[in-house]
Amino acid sequence: MVETAVEPGVPHEFELFRRRAYQLTGLDLACYKAPQMHRRLSVLLTRLRVASFTEYTRMLETDAARRQEFRDYVTINVSEFFRDAARFGELERRILPELLQRGASLRVWSAGCSNGAEPYSLSILLQELGPERAHSILATDVDQTILDHARSGTGYQAADLRNVGADRTRRWFVGTPDGKVSVAPVARVGIRFAKHDLLRDAYPVGPFDLIACRNVVIYFTEDAKERIYDGFVGALRPGGVLFLGGSEAIMRPQNVGLAVMGPGFYRKVGEGR
Ligand SMILES: C[S@@+](CC[C@H](N)C(=O)[O-])C[C@H]1O[C@@H](n2cnc3c(N)ncnc32)[C@H](O)[C@@H]1O
Repeated sequence: MVETAVEPGVPHEFELFRRRAYQLTGLDLACYKAPQMHRRLSVLLTRLRVASFTEYTRMLETDAARRQEFRDYVTINVSEFFRDAARFGELERRILPELLQRGASLRVWSAGCSNGAEPYSLSILLQELGPERAHSILATDVDQTILDHARSGTGYQAADLRNVGADRTRRWFVGTPDGKVSVAPVARVGIRFAKHDLLRDAYPVGPFDLIACRNVVIYFTEDAKERIYDGFVGALRPGGVLFLGGSEAIMRPQNVGLAVMGPGFYRKVGEGR
């Protein structure tokens, strides 16, 4: 058989690996840009001293710890509180006050919430800007291990709080004897954590006032991103806001029923598309 490449620079062996990895771990690598994912996983294989994707497939077939390692490596859990201070500043000064003007409590979805730093940051802002309202935050992630960490609200490093000022740190966080930091119970009120795969699962009904999906879809194909943005538009209320990560932009927002509000922020126009 002549081996054809799926995409330039991506060998046929990798295509076979992608299919088998999906069966074994439920992670659909076809939704990630193939050249980037191939490069990233090749680095992992070198680190593990594994000679080929065929050999790596055999490891995943027999070793549950390797399967978890693979999931962790592909999904990338890096996060921090108030990540990208300029954008969170914009959220605090302009976007949330405008959403809060409607008078009601807000419904927020943090999609791809990782260790919880993002939904807790959103909770802090909502409580500061709109106290005494029953805001609710749905925080979801595909990775159960990181979701358990998020739900615990504990075990953060001081560096995870580098964008949190001293006053906020005193008010919303508690130091623990092991030198780590926990989120104060009051910042946890109204947050519900749930496992959710943006590529496979049905989307929550909402309607949400704000959806944050930051640094999650960076390595996804354009097709996968469009399906995800479509899902978000379906879950937003008209006028609701989608909040993206620092280096992310939607190519043709009007195609999915969104309008640009400023870097990283999109508003649902009318009923969406
Ligand atoms: C780099 S972290 C971003 C965390 C946070 N949003 C932030 O910006 O700090 C990406 C998160 O997306 C999650 N993720 C990756 N693929 C996902 C998917 N298909 N569905 C839901 N979450 C996913 C990962 O598990 C990881 O926790």
